[in-house]
Amino acid sequence: MDQGFASLMIVGGQWGDEGKGKVVDLLSHAFPAVVRFNGGHNAGHTVRFANRRFALHLVPSGIIHETTTCYLGAGMVIDPKALVAELDQLVSEDVDPSGRLFVSPRATIILPSHRALDHAREGALGAGKIGTTGRGIGPAYGDCVLRHALRAFLLAEPTRLAESATAAIELHNRELVDLLGADPVDVTAAVGELLTAAGRVAPLLREVGPALERHAKRGDPILFEGAQGALLDVLYGTYPFVTSSGCLPPAAAASCGVATKMLGPVLGIMKAYTTRVGGGPFPSELTNAEGDRLRERGAEYGTTTGRPRRCGWFDAVAARYAIQVAGIDAVGVMKLDVLDGFESLRVVVGYRLPDGSTLDTMPADTELLERVTPLTEELPGWRNPTSGVIDQDQLPAAAEDYLRFLEERLEVPVVIVSTGPYREEILVRGTSPLAGPLQRIIAAG
Ligand code: GDP
Ligand code: IMO
Ligand code: MG
Repeated sequence: MDQGFASLMIVGGQWGDEGKGKVVDLLSHAFPAVVRFNGGHNAGHTVRFANRRFALHLVPSGIIHETTTCYLGAGMVIDPKALVAELDQLVSEDVDPSGRLFVSPRATIILPSHRALDHAREGALGAGKIGTTGRGIGPAYGDCVLRHALRAFLLAEPTRLAESATAAIELHNRELVDLLGADPVDVTAAVGELLTAAGRVAPLLREVGPALERHAKRGDPILFEGAQGALLDVLYGTYPFVTSSGCLPPAAAASCGVATKMLGPVLGIMKAYTTRVGGGPFPSELTNAEGDRLRERGAEYGTTTGRPRRCGWFDAVAARYAIQVAGIDAVGVMKLDVLDGFESLRVVVGYRLPDGSTLDTMPADTELLERVTPLTEELPGWRNPTSGVIDQDQLPAAAEDYLRFLEERLEVPVVIVSTGPYREEILVRGTSPLAGPLQRIIAAG
């Protein structure tokens, strides 16, 4: 099928968990290559269809489709034990990833001692903790840029792997014990765990850039699946309450070692409201019954950690900022059905500072963001449910008005609207440039 673009980029436009997994699953049948380029098993991407539910963490959501080959880029941090567990889980669910999943030999290995450091460093931060997923993500990226990380190619060389891992874990243990007052990691057990998983991951090692170039030469469209979201990006997110990877589209080229010109249009995925997990500023947060209602209706509990997600209104200031830093061409608005039944809705359209001045974007100084009061506009809710609606014409007028309001504020088209967790509960909206190709892909699915 000619979709009119050689690749498509799916990224989160808020603080993660926007529904990227659902969209990637919906589109992957048209993409012979699906690529994860950032993060690790801190991600939790949910895919639902028929009576099935998959929670993907490291493996691209495209794996569910037998026709796709999936890649994990060099910019990822990979816990071999977690990857093996995920592969076993997929096989137990009748998804066979063999011969269709490849891992960059340049990716960073997460060691058991990175997990211990993640917990201990968070503990040391006390009330100011970031609220990480505890998966060792930050410590592993830290070691990567400090230039003493173990890289995935070592998984195919057990003797060198054991030596390097022992040295790295011993170093981590010094920080754990001497600086953080935590228990050391058992080196023998940790190296044993690593060696066991290494044997399973080693056959998956393959340079990602050349593989993607081969796909491109064959005319295979490539789907890039971002993890986390623009507001969790290590440079442009609400630092330090962010993850440790680049979550924006250019990170895909860097992670895969391909030309930026290989990157196609950017579809930014956003919820019809906002959530975040962990600490950090969240101007539109609702700590009242309305927030609880969003959490219960939206089943807002983390896919990875099960933590309740903080919930709030759609924040058009944050979304506009995300669109700018991520270069989002069009937006997919997810979970519109969760807003069904609200008498009225609010959208954040500005931030007021304690001195009375206003902000219309996200400042570099995250502490400033903690002090803003959100300025909101009220919009009417809708009586007829949007749940399961798959045709734009069938949306209640107030729901369509809500989407049009977002479009005006964001200055990019809302091209996809999701009205339920299942694959088919989706509609393509309007006539913007991505609408036609997306409509054709979904219709062929
Ligand atoms: P991701 O990390 O961006 O892939 O998102 P998650 O999977 O962590 O969280 C999104 C959650 O919302 C998952 O449980 C999805 O099944 C669910 N979901 C996705 N789209 C919709 C929707 O339109 N309506 C409802 N009610 N749930 C949705
Ligand atoms: P997906 O891909 C939501 C958050 C954590 C924490 C911060 C840092 O499912 O959207 P980390 O473990 O990465 O060092 O934690 O980032 N976080 C996510 N929040 N969705 C995610 O991924 C996330 N991955 C990390 O909650 O606040
Ligand atoms: Mg998630």
